[in-house]
Amino acid sequence: MSSQLPPQESIASVRARRAHSIKWRRYGPDILPAWVADMDFPPPQLALEAGIALLNSGDTGYPSPDLVTNYEAAYRAWALENFGTKPNTLRTVADVVAALRIIVLATTDPGAGVIVMTPSYPPFFGVVQDAQRRLVSVPMRADGRDYRIDMERLESAATDPNTQAIILCNPQNPTGRVFTGTELTEIANLADRRGLIVIADEIHQDLRGPEVRHIPFSSLEHPSALRAVVLSSPSKSFNIAGLKVAHIELPSDPELRARIESSPLLPLSQATPLGLAVGAHAYQSEYGWLVEVRERIDENFALVSKGLGDLDCLALYDREGTYLQWAKIERLPPDQSAYSFLLEKAHVAVGPGEDYLPGSTSHFRLNLAAWPSTVEHLIERMHDALSSI
Ligand SMILES: Cc1ncc(COP(=O)(O)O)c(C=O)c1O
Repeated sequence: MSSQLPPQESIASVRARRAHSIKWRRYGPDILPAWVADMDFPPPQLALEAGIALLNSGDTGYPSPDLVTNYEAAYRAWALENFGTKPNTLRTVADVVAALRIIVLATTDPGAGVIVMTPSYPPFFGVVQDAQRRLVSVPMRADGRDYRIDMERLESAATDPNTQAIILCNPQNPTGRVFTGTELTEIANLADRRGLIVIADEIHQDLRGPEVRHIPFSSLEHPSALRAVVLSSPSKSFNIAGLKVAHIELPSDPELRARIESSPLLPLSQATPLGLAVGAHAYQSEYGWLVEVRERIDENFALVSKGLGDLDCLALYDREGTYLQWAKIERLPPDQSAYSFLLEKAHVAVGPGEDYLPGSTSHFRLNLAAWPSTVEHLIERMHDALSSI
């Protein structure tokens, strides 16, 4: 198979090409950005051309339903090929976070408890609170270099009859865990016993390390799967977050499904024609691009482990999925967080730990979807700074 990615791109070239990206624009030119979750790799060229064709023909008015039908068919084929699953009814939407808000509002009552396992993708906290639901944070257990679901804590959070849903992020941002069939079944059992709706954000489903299998929650043979709502998108997999396309896989349960379908907010979150066209092409034809990207990302994790793994002030947690390295700095200087230390001393911008794990300033999240030369610079800068601790 011919290579679909250029072999390398310099930091200066990425910075110039990504002139309108928040990742590269938030900080000054002396800072190397490794924070927000998008990739420095350009999306697959032929997928982009599906969007360019729409623009070139000036066919930019209200889209006809065939764009949605085509996208859904492409995703169904992708799900069958990659996960061996046949998704339920799909609804396309603009993005996963908007969809999550719609689902929380439609499926839970005002004031109900919604469980979020921490550390967590920060917008989950905001979605629950903005929807006037009660945020029930349940910490995962850090076991050495690994994060595990704390079933005892989940169980006790779920005993409150007012707790109605759990937001499950799998693959998990920021820890990089990809939950096993056993773990998912434990969640499903709990949800069934306590009457919880599982809202599964599977946006990172295509980004996994070697030999790691993703199991869509809706594919479990379990009563909880019939009541689960699964959210996903080609936006992380193919680096098209700005094009606005995602989908909701509706639950089979007719009552829940009707609640979602009658949400007045659903028609307000529409996927764009560009997103539908590019996303459909990517699902149809760009598996090879994704495989190359995954290999690059795996190599980057190996580089980081080799370059920073020997520092005894740094804990790097094992990653199974996503392109995000979750980490912790021990013995930080007083009044410094991992984020401020790395920004000031290494000139690297990471995701601040406290955003994902309120109260923890020693953790941070590093985005490794970058060219190897960028990652080597990151390692060098971080190694120099951390060696001084
Ligand atoms: C777990 C998770 N969900 C949702 C999103 C955002 O998705 P969208 O841009 O479709 O709202 C991200 C982005 O990083 C994410 O990591």
